[in-house]
Amino acid sequence: MSKSRQAIHRLDYTPPAFLIDRVDLNFELDETATRVTSRLVVQRNPKVASADAPLTIDGEDLTLESVKLDGALLTPAQFELTPSSLTLPGIEQDAIIEIVTRLNPAANTQLMGLYLSNGNFFTQCEAEGFRRITYYLDRPDVMTRFTTTIIADKTRFPVLLSNGNRVGEGVLDRNRHWVKWVDPFRKPAYLFALVAGKLVSQTGQHTTSGGKTVHIEVYVEPGDLDKCEHALAAAQKAMRWDEERFGLVYDLDTYMIVATSDFNMGAMENKGLNIFNTKYVLAKPDTATDADFDGIDSVVAHEYFHNWTGNRVTCRDWFQLSLKEGLTVYRDQEFSSDIGSRAVARIQNVRTLRELQFAEDAGPQAHPVRPDSYLEINNFYTMTVYEKGAEVVRMIATLLGRDGFRKGMELYFRRHDGQAVTCDDFVAAMADANNADLEQFKRWYSQAGIPQLDCSSDYNEAARTFTLTVRQSCPPTPGQPEKLPFHIPLALGLVDRRGHDLPLQLDGETMPGGTTRVLELREAEQSFTFVNVPCPPVPSLLRDFSAPVRLDYPWTQDDLIFLVACDSDAFCRWEAANTCASRLLKELYLAAARNEKIVLPAGFIDSLRCLLTEPELDPALVALMLELPGERTLLEEIDSVDPGLLQQVCQSVKQQLARELRAELLIRYAQLNDGEPYRYDSIEVAQRSLKNVCLSYLAELDEPMVGEMLANQYARADNMTDRLAALKALVNRDGGEAQLADFAARWQDDALVMDKWFTLQATSRRPGALSRVEKLMDHPAFSLRNPNKVRALISAFCQQNLAHFHAADGYGYAFAADRIIEIDKSNPQIAARLASCFNRWPRLEPKRQAMIRAELERISTTENLSNGTFEIVSKALQA
Ligand code: PHE
Ligand code: ZN
Repeated sequence: MSKSRQAIHRLDYTPPAFLIDRVDLNFELDETATRVTSRLVVQRNPKVASADAPLTIDGEDLTLESVKLDGALLTPAQFELTPSSLTLPGIEQDAIIEIVTRLNPAANTQLMGLYLSNGNFFTQCEAEGFRRITYYLDRPDVMTRFTTTIIADKTRFPVLLSNGNRVGEGVLDRNRHWVKWVDPFRKPAYLFALVAGKLVSQTGQHTTSGGKTVHIEVYVEPGDLDKCEHALAAAQKAMRWDEERFGLVYDLDTYMIVATSDFNMGAMENKGLNIFNTKYVLAKPDTATDADFDGIDSVVAHEYFHNWTGNRVTCRDWFQLSLKEGLTVYRDQEFSSDIGSRAVARIQNVRTLRELQFAEDAGPQAHPVRPDSYLEINNFYTMTVYEKGAEVVRMIATLLGRDGFRKGMELYFRRHDGQAVTCDDFVAAMADANNADLEQFKRWYSQAGIPQLDCSSDYNEAARTFTLTVRQSCPPTPGQPEKLPFHIPLALGLVDRRGHDLPLQLDGETMPGGTTRVLELREAEQSFTFVNVPCPPVPSLLRDFSAPVRLDYPWTQDDLIFLVACDSDAFCRWEAANTCASRLLKELYLAAARNEKIVLPAGFIDSLRCLLTEPELDPALVALMLELPGERTLLEEIDSVDPGLLQQVCQSVKQQLARELRAELLIRYAQLNDGEPYRYDSIEVAQRSLKNVCLSYLAELDEPMVGEMLANQYARADNMTDRLAALKALVNRDGGEAQLADFAARWQDDALVMDKWFTLQATSRRPGALSRVEKLMDHPAFSLRNPNKVRALISAFCQQNLAHFHAADGYGYAFAADRIIEIDKSNPQIAARLASCFNRWPRLEPKRQAMIRAELERISTTENLSNGTFEIVSKALQA
């Protein structure tokens, strides 16, 4: 092995021997030789008895020019330098250290630390990127006051930004200028940011509840100024919402957002200076879909909310990542629910959770919400830490109630403002503020895996009682063979034969209390008896998806169709449709695997027909209920699966439904396709979503008229949502060559729109997808160095085009492995993410398993493979 691969363990945490009281940074920006001068005021940590421990600070890919200790220049013999650290012995109590380093931003292809994007400078420091800028105690529990002076060429870099407040500026010789920033809040290094370049800004304001004016500035490249309005409005909405819902007010005078097209992730919450992937800033109806607008709302809100949950109170160590991420995702989900449709937002979140987090939690990378060890921290920005973490916070809110949760938040900030803390501290604040016992609940942070609830019921006609029995279990996950029972909030209702919710009265209660109740599960098996139940009800279980579990109950198909029509809980209504469809698809798959044919049950078709023709229903919910379960979710539930066959079965079901519902689909489509000019508001978005689901069904029909409909919608659309929906259907149906060419000609200069163009082709189910992807890698708009492009083309093919990626010849696997090895050399973070396309190999039939294993072996034995990619691949091999 060419590299040392040393895992970091949560229980090895020790507080830092030194703290940094202040840091003054000076940047002389230059594309290939930026000089950074850092002045650190350090002192021994009074809480740590280690009087003789030397000071070791982190650094990576830096050229050290000089070190001064209390003003005296050190000779190389007086310090110790390794490729990852600088050690200074002999500091007694405190010291002032001045370090001068040089670095090469143009060579920074990892996009961690200081790098160039379209000629402008950006930084990315979370998790451990600051050490690539200067030597520092690069750990989140070292919180420091930062000042930053930036010096750069005035013509090429007119805008110079950093955290906090701008306190001075001036001009220098050689056409240079400088700006100085002071951040009044202590922060860990991962929240540092610097931006320099030719940027323009759209500005707005927010007046806080206390009457203070906050200036909001959205910085983009000059050509993009007409695409900032939505992001700016999102920031304003988020500021207002956080004040109203949690009493949290912004704490600086200016809030800045800067967009860059070269970014590994979605966006970053640097104090006062959030840096965003352009994908989550730039939008106008011509170029962005309704989903893109929603995405901007939630990511802008997410980063803004981090100012309190993440920045003011931060993480003690990276194992606590969900402390800020789970909580902040919960907050952005609540925000999206409040500004849009709560039911739709919830269903969409659950769909993502099931499709992506469940697969992670059932596979070789499964880890607790608070992991116990890692090789590469970048691999732990996962669906589990983020989305399951948010579900865990949501369960706390469900158990404590809305007011109880808010009290918990208030105590959390009262105790921990300005500190770096743990997930346990968060739970303790929640418990203490409510006098609640959350000890058992904490297992959600330490045990990985998807809990399984097996439910059964018994109706006693004579006693008029209904007893629900719930058995909970959790499958083993890597390193955790046995699990203890979880504390699970199970929300439910009982629906009578007329479709009405029954008042719920548990045995022992004197009065019924509500029609939705939250049962608290704590044991492996528990029974709950409801009294005064006049008739055998249909239980509506896990309302609003009250816990991230799998739930089984022996509903008949008729029960499910009944719930689709009657459940008062929108999530359960959707869930019933979804359960119905997914049972059916699995049966059909198994039949197809045996070479048998089954016809679709009439009851199922009719229930969809009802949804299409019922004018009272929210079109967005109907659209969600009509969409069949995703292949990725189904893949998790079928053993020894052949993804190609699964895709065929799903497509043929869709085709049959389209034939059966042809008339209703055409009518609904025509009604919704009203030719009104585009507006982005919740009613119009809902209508467009149903219209385009109808269109995607109709596109399955082999009729010339349908081809014309698609071509018409493509040609006449006044917005990207409709245009892309039509193009997608065309590409899957007959290739859509003419429209693809038209689209590229129109949008060749818009990188984000071209990403959509790449993805459509990468995910096309038509034969030859892989060779098209390979050809597209030579397209002038493509670059393997740009993460958005890799995601749009390569990841889209490997993660979303299951039938082609898993083609029986194994070429898809070889292609993925080649790209992973190639990308690992320039950007290991992106390579490691791509490598997770192989995670679910144990679910596949044996031939494909063997081919994937061979590719995983090939990657893992590649020379100089990064720790990140090695960690993913080696865990996949252990599955
Ligand atoms: N902290 C960022 C967020 O969740 C995500 C991120 C992590 C961005 C690491 C960049 C690098 O909002
Ligand atoms: Zn976040």
